[in-house]
Amino acid sequence: MTLSASVVAELFFVLLVAVVCPGSSATTIQWYRTARGNSDRLSQQTSITFGGDFTSSSTITVNRQVTYQTVLGFGGAFTDSASYIFSKLNSTLQAQLLDMYFSESGLKYNMARLPIGSCDFSLENYNYDNTSGDADLSKFSINHDKENIIPFIKGALTTMQKWTNDSLNIVASPWSPPGWMKVPESPYCPQSCSNCELKDEYKHTWALYFSKFVSAYKSEEINIWGVTVQNEPEYCPSNYESMHFTPETERDFIKTYLGPQLKEDHPDLNILIYDHNKDHVVEWAKTIYSDSDAAQYVWGTAIHWYTGDQFSNLNTTHNLFPDRPILATESTENRETNPKSPEWGKGEHYAHDIIGDMNNWVVGFIDWNLLLDVLGGPNHKGPDECEGAVKCGFDSMLLVDYNSQIIYPQVFYYYVGHISKFVPRESVRIDTVVAGSTLETVAFLTPDKTVVVVVMNRQDHPVTFKLLDIVDGSKQAVRVTALARSIQTFMYR
Ligand SMILES: *[C@@H]1O[C@H](CO)[C@@H](O)[C@H](O)[C@H]1NC(C)=O
Ligand SMILES: *[C@@H]1O[C@H](CO)[C@@H](O)[C@H](O)[C@H]1NC(C)=O
Ligand SMILES: *[C@@H]1O[C@H](CO)[C@@H](O)[C@H](O)[C@H]1NC(C)=O
Ligand SMILES: *[C@@H]1O[C@H](CO)[C@@H](O)[C@H](O)[C@H]1NC(C)=O
Repeated sequence: MTLSASVVAELFFVLLVAVVCPGSSATTIQWYRTARGNSDRLSQQTSITFGGDFTSSSTITVNRQVTYQTVLGFGGAFTDSASYIFSKLNSTLQAQLLDMYFSESGLKYNMARLPIGSCDFSLENYNYDNTSGDADLSKFSINHDKENIIPFIKGALTTMQKWTNDSLNIVASPWSPPGWMKVPESPYCPQSCSNCELKDEYKHTWALYFSKFVSAYKSEEINIWGVTVQNEPEYCPSNYESMHFTPETERDFIKTYLGPQLKEDHPDLNILIYDHNKDHVVEWAKTIYSDSDAAQYVWGTAIHWYTGDQFSNLNTTHNLFPDRPILATESTENRETNPKSPEWGKGEHYAHDIIGDMNNWVVGFIDWNLLLDVLGGPNHKGPDECEGAVKCGFDSMLLVDYNSQIIYPQVFYYYVGHISKFVPRESVRIDTVVAGSTLETVAFLTPDKTVVVVVMNRQDHPVTFKLLDIVDGSKQAVRVTALARSIQTFMYR
């Protein structure tokens, strides 16, 4: 081997630096904080520096040499309700809202979910072909979405293009086919799950419907990255769009109809199974991934959070099928009673879920409605359960009073931002160990080799800890205090 003069000079320089600066004692740490007790909201703090190691009763150890899954991204959902509210904002607030989510100064979202047809957060029931018996979908049209949904997505794309070449990875999900494809013929499940399925003669038509949806969006210059087979296939409400699949019927629908159709028409599209709570994820993964004829069409597994943490189910799923990414596709909180003084715990719940999910192999997180009105609506779930939007509304990171043209950011806007804003796509999760405290943490190595460490303190008192970084056996440490009810993001190279 021969070395050029410049390489030799460079090696000499590296050796010189190593001798003059033993370890990495001058490493600067930039950090951002959100805390209940002060006005910090994703606010940059005065930078700190690592020094040598010391003893401490409470430590978070970060080891970038132990790596896990690669990050896909973070985002929210372009529901009909969110898109309607967006259309009601004036141009200043529309630009502000798009910046808050999709710009370099905002949360840097690069993922989204898009309902295929109406869902619980739509103003009314709609679909793209309501002509009974139109088996080859000659009347298919996404005209409905051109009014509010597509302009909102286009705004997000334009906002992203100002600062990144990253794609917006859109996951599209159906809540129900048009009623005429189902038994009984309703977009809802009027008689519970046991009788709410696709008609056999329209299984091919329903697979074609997915393909036509993706093509129609493509002709609007919006690329769909993936689809889930069915939103919440185990839940069959009678007052909004739903359809039932078991693990076996979803497997067979993918194997015989959806997989072949989409592979032929859209070979780059990703198919995700399940799209429901963490409680039964292992069973669904086992049933579908164990059948290679179905599994060949599938990318990974989508999960929701409504049955609680259940992080170990994600680890089990990963251990059984390590090549199948897991993506969180929906989570929300109940309606915020006072948007001007939101519950702090909701922010902590979101960060707790994302930290726990990502420490158990989840590659990304997509929140539910990107925005809602101050009553947590509007939606069309029906008067029996909901009394309009008042009782059955949900919370959203950004609640909007469009009569007064005001956006109210909720606490979880900041908490999710502490992760989404600093963890770009293609970052890799790295190892962390918490000792001597109940602090919650997750860490990543970004593509440009920045270490990002998120630390949350859910206690009512401050916690002082040692942040310890280990590389090649050499240690650097710094003492930090996590304020009561706070989250912080540390970044260093
Ligand atoms: C939009 O509404 C906000 C809040 O009322 C106001 O400050 C702003 O000037 C409005 N922008 C336009 C273009 O009307
Ligand atoms: C679809 O057709 C059914 C049956 O004719 C009708 O009851 C329903 O209102 C239609 N839905 C829409 C969204 O037009
Ligand atoms: C996006 O890609 C183009 C073409 O490869 C490149 O010139 C540009 O610098 C990239 N922009 C960003 C923000 O990375
Ligand atoms: C996940 O499972 C592996 C293998 O059983 C185990 O070693 C690891 O501790 C588990 N991780 C978590 C976070 O529980």
